[in-house]
Amino acid sequence: MRIIKAKDYEDMSKKAANIIASQVIMKPGAVLGLATGSTPIGTYKQLIKKYNNGDLDFSQVTTVNLDEYKGLAKDHDQSYYYFMHQNLFDHINIKPERTFLPDGTQADSDNACADYDRIIAEVGGVDLQLLGIGHNGHIGFNEPGSVFEKDTHCVDLTEKTIQANKRFFASADDVPKQAYTMGIRTIMMARKILLVASGEEKAEIIKEAFFGPVTPAVQASILQLRKHVILVADEAALSQVK
Ligand code: F6R
Repeated sequence: MRIIKAKDYEDMSKKAANIIASQVIMKPGAVLGLATGSTPIGTYKQLIKKYNNGDLDFSQVTTVNLDEYKGLAKDHDQSYYYFMHQNLFDHINIKPERTFLPDGTQADSDNACADYDRIIAEVGGVDLQLLGIGHNGHIGFNEPGSVFEKDTHCVDLTEKTIQANKRFFASADDVPKQAYTMGIRTIMMARKILLVASGEEKAEIIKEAFFGPVTPAVQASILQLRKHVILVADEAALSQVK
């Protein structure tokens, strides 16, 4: 594991984008695993900048996202499909047919998840998987306590998550109750993993995940077992690490 310390969010975003860019330069047909959430937005902005400067070409790149809400239409402004188009895909020369997310519109969970695992296998697996981390150590929608040996699967969102997300929807009833997510096994199959973290509020979990025991109680702790993991975090997120 490598830890790269950044000064602040902007610096973290630049450093993470440089790592992704070097992957694409070294392998123009790379398969990138992508994440949503607030942390990678700055990284995506930096990648767009590099593309606009003519320094990066996404025409042969394939992407597979970590997760998607079940039951949201693609054009719903809270779907991860929508997020990825707004924050990255619509601003670079990636081929839309080379961008994949679990299909949240598929009602049959088993089929949706099996289809997604097949897509990941067919594109040849993930070269570089970008991750954020939840305050409880979740990666993707893999919440504390779930078993490590899962491929893409359907999860029930906790009441806490539904309550936290209801501000983005007309009411709590409109918040999706389930999501499709790559499992820990899917994530661990990636050839390289890049986790980004920023801010004081991530400091405790970064210490636990990367320096505490490896346990399903802290899903990200499994990353300690991988050699090719890079943590890019700012000073605030690393403030509890000696
Ligand atoms: C996103 C995802 C989540 C987030 C995590 C951190 O696709 O799967 O695990 O990475 O919740 O979110 P932020 O970056 O908003 O703190």
